[in-house]
Amino acid sequence: MAEIWHDEAAGAWLAEMRSTSYAFGLADGGAALRHLHWGAPLPRAAVPGLLAVAAGAVPRHELRLSMAPSERPDEYVPWGGLRFDEPSLKAEFGDGTRGVEWRFAGHRVTRQGPAVTLEVGLADTAYPLRVTLGYRVYDDFDVLDRWATVRHDGDGDDPPIVIRQAHSANWPLPPRGGWRLRYLHGGWGAETQLAQTALTPGKLVLESRRGTTSHQLNPWFTLDPDGTATEEDGEVWSGALAWSGSWKLVFETTAGGLVHACGGVNDFDWSYLLSPGDELVLPRFAGLYTTGGFGAASREWHAWQLAHVLGRGDDRAGMTTPGWAPSALPAPPAPPVPAPASHGCGNQPPIAVSLAQPSRSAPGPAVPEQDEPPLRPVLYNSWEATSFDVNEAGQIRLAELAARLGIETFVMDDGWFGERHHDRAGLGDWTVNPRKFPRGLGPLIERVNDLGMGFGLWVEPEMVNPDSDLYRQHPDWVFHFDGRTRSEQRNQLVLNLARPDVADWMFGTLDRLLSQNRIEFVKWDMNRSFSEPGWPEVFLAGDNPERAWTDYVHNLYAVLDALRAAHPGVDFESCASGGGRVDLGILRRVEQVWTSDNTDAWDRVKIQEGFTQAYPPQVMMAWVTDSPNFLTRRELPLSFRFHVAMAGALGVGGDLLRWTDAELAEAAGLIAAYKEIRPIVQRGRLYRLASVAGGPSGAGGASGAFAASQYVSGDDVVLLAWWGPQPCGARPPRIRLAALDPAARYRDIASGAEHRGAALLANGLLLPEETASTFGSTLVRLIRE
Ligand code: GLA
Repeated sequence: MAEIWHDEAAGAWLAEMRSTSYAFGLADGGAALRHLHWGAPLPRAAVPGLLAVAAGAVPRHELRLSMAPSERPDEYVPWGGLRFDEPSLKAEFGDGTRGVEWRFAGHRVTRQGPAVTLEVGLADTAYPLRVTLGYRVYDDFDVLDRWATVRHDGDGDDPPIVIRQAHSANWPLPPRGGWRLRYLHGGWGAETQLAQTALTPGKLVLESRRGTTSHQLNPWFTLDPDGTATEEDGEVWSGALAWSGSWKLVFETTAGGLVHACGGVNDFDWSYLLSPGDELVLPRFAGLYTTGGFGAASREWHAWQLAHVLGRGDDRAGMTTPGWAPSALPAPPAPPVPAPASHGCGNQPPIAVSLAQPSRSAPGPAVPEQDEPPLRPVLYNSWEATSFDVNEAGQIRLAELAARLGIETFVMDDGWFGERHHDRAGLGDWTVNPRKFPRGLGPLIERVNDLGMGFGLWVEPEMVNPDSDLYRQHPDWVFHFDGRTRSEQRNQLVLNLARPDVADWMFGTLDRLLSQNRIEFVKWDMNRSFSEPGWPEVFLAGDNPERAWTDYVHNLYAVLDALRAAHPGVDFESCASGGGRVDLGILRRVEQVWTSDNTDAWDRVKIQEGFTQAYPPQVMMAWVTDSPNFLTRRELPLSFRFHVAMAGALGVGGDLLRWTDAELAEAAGLIAAYKEIRPIVQRGRLYRLASVAGGPSGAGGASGAFAASQYVSGDDVVLLAWWGPQPCGARPPRIRLAALDPAARYRDIASGAEHRGAALLANGLLLPEETASTFGSTLVRLIRE
């Protein structure tokens, strides 16, 4: 059971997770929360000693280096005083004062189901600003979920407070020699490429300024000391931010040699004006620690996301006050924020109040009980087959073939609405095109349902083509500055979803679409970055247009939450020109994501390898498409394309009308095989046995590009292996399996061959020679006897 223990005498807290501890305590007379520990399990008795050291004077050598007595590892760093490292919070008050000084203002521990939440209150010593730090731990996991809430605690007469930077969390790292940072970068068609670098003195910033998560960088990282961790072994600290807008992560080695990772909403071009009573709930920033290397870190992320993130919404609070809420639905419950302590001026006695005694029965936020998200259906998507050229007869022809393959959800992509015959027109006009579908969507959906499949539809509700009725009616609804060009990308502009009327329209439009048609799946696309992010009406009203960066995302979440509440049978997929919006924030509102527009299976091996560092195979939608591939022109065998797509949530996206009978029959067989392994792939533990970047680990002989993944669930083991271009003379590798019982026997389900667990672990499995060649692939299923 996870616990958060409060050492009242010392003024410290210890979060006790499955096999990780995290500790911090009050220092400087209650003016700082000093970080004490993040790593291996820590006995409670060790906490006061750690605090005594951390709260003591700064060592002389550090002072000389940093010239900053207060450069200390703090849990959350308000900017002010002699502080020169990256702060967590920067605020400006009504009288022009910039800088925060605060004191501890109480805490509360609550348990709800499998989660324990600690809230720590910090109140400014002179102004009505209150920050509540949230910490949540989960039974059976090593993930610590953190966030902060910033609140204007004053009344009507108090001037507003401007927040100029507000991170979700600061994560001080323990003393080690040096650090290697690994992160995910990329671009359109090449998402989630794993990169690494050593941290050196100064700052390294990863960020998105695009308004969305971005293809270019993803808000996830690992840090390992001196680059010592491997896939199977070693200390790894990892973090992931739950935010689908512009974000920033800073990795800093301070002048005094402290290393910390921090971040949250990007402060670039952003500010947030808090009026009395307003509250800004910042995104969650989760972290974990493991000694099991990168593989164990990934498996922990996967299992925790399946248990506590995927499709579960955000149970913490309404994200902002005020924020958009649909008029027809009840507003989300109020957040359990510690009761305000008085915020009078002057020096307050430190550590004066305890908001509530730690209690197991105190009412806390609703954390859903742990249960497994349903398995993802095998899906067909029409995009690569028909592009914008969709109509009833053509989609029915594809649906009939898809049903023969064993497809479970049939999704019609772009082109079904307005005057959408290409990407230059129609976005925004979400009514069915009467020439393409004279009888509406009904007959197509009926046919799809009769064929035994659910029906899915593509939408891109955040965008508008200038050539659309919506834009002609509401040219002021897009982000723009009155005196500047409205830059187009893919011939489209971004609707300013921060506007409540746009949020109303979006919810109403999609609610109608989902109410009038039997739609079971929505592919929610978002195909461009923000530019000219102006909100002239708000500027002219003397309000705070820069808040659009965050209000947009809050309203996106609110619209999605409201649609999910109103249509609980509908599954959602997040797409942004492929994998441009994949993060823990959107994953709370969708069942899966579109990994990349690049469906070349060999490129996908690398993209998927990076993707699974942070996110689970269950959400990783992968289609089998035509050969040669429409992007790369590469020709790949059908079995190879399937074996790659089977490593996640399987889909098909080719033009089935051009597939031969033999190909259709082979595809049907492979889809049936996938359904057999689906629970193991989608819910099992993933071991990346060989990396396409690093080659086979523990395999003898192969010198060409090769990758392999193993999935384990109970007695079931699945191995998928893929060969890239092979040089002459390359030999099939023996691939050593992981996580087997050395004493057990394992039977190969296809061949009947028996293997000893110990032999598979030590000497590996010899993969079939005929598949071990350029773009060969293998699927092996073993069962423990
Ligand atoms: C984006 C998506 C594609 C497809 C097209 C439709 O590019 O990533 O999968 O839906 O839009 O226009």
